[in-house]
Amino acid sequence: MRMSGKGQLVTEDIEQILFTEEQIAERVAALGAQIREDYGGKNLLLVGTLKGAFLFLSDLARAIDLPLQVDFVSVSSYGDGTTSSGAIQVRKDLDCSPENLDVLVIEDIVDSGRTLAYLVDLLRAQHTASVEVCTLLDKPSGRVTSFVPKYTGFTVPDGFVVGYGMDYAEKYRNLPFIGILRAEVYQGK
Ligand code: IMP
Ligand code: MG
Repeated sequence: MRMSGKGQLVTEDIEQILFTEEQIAERVAALGAQIREDYGGKNLLLVGTLKGAFLFLSDLARAIDLPLQVDFVSVSSYGDGTTSSGAIQVRKDLDCSPENLDVLVIEDIVDSGRTLAYLVDLLRAQHTASVEVCTLLDKPSGRVTSFVPKYTGFTVPDGFVVGYGMDYAEKYRNLPFIGILRAEVYQGK
């Protein structure tokens, strides 16, 4: 298991590796092939959710062999904590108009589902041709809405995950794998 080169502190902070770099790459390639099948002939716009989905989007975009556009939004319900506050805030809106485009929102992880339910409604109100969601991870144990993503990379158990773009208090985003963060790290030992 590759945890080397990331320093002692990180190794100590991760309780368990859920998905290795290789497993993620394999799943991303499969998702890209599926999306290619489904979106041929359409006007695809990938909308990445900052910052958590930045690595997933960059790998997935290269795995989709179709013409497409890329844009980003930043929608937050979290702050620096590990539980959702419930209040959604748009910190950065789209640069381009999504009108008449087939929008695929690229998300890192769906927990309560509040962020995506809000974002999908917001996009559908802008005369888009279609709006769907591709999430790398789904954590169904946290769901408080009826939101269901069209594409899911992996389903994860309850617990706070970091790595491959996902953070706790802005740390761990650059880990090449996805792991469960030790509870002591965010519960203050
Ligand atoms: P939701 O609105 O509760 O579904 O929250 C979704 C957002 O919260 C995700 O896009 C992440 O940015 C963040 N989030 C939820 N669970 C985790 C986690 O386990 N690790 C890191 N970020 C998380
Ligand atoms: Mg996110």
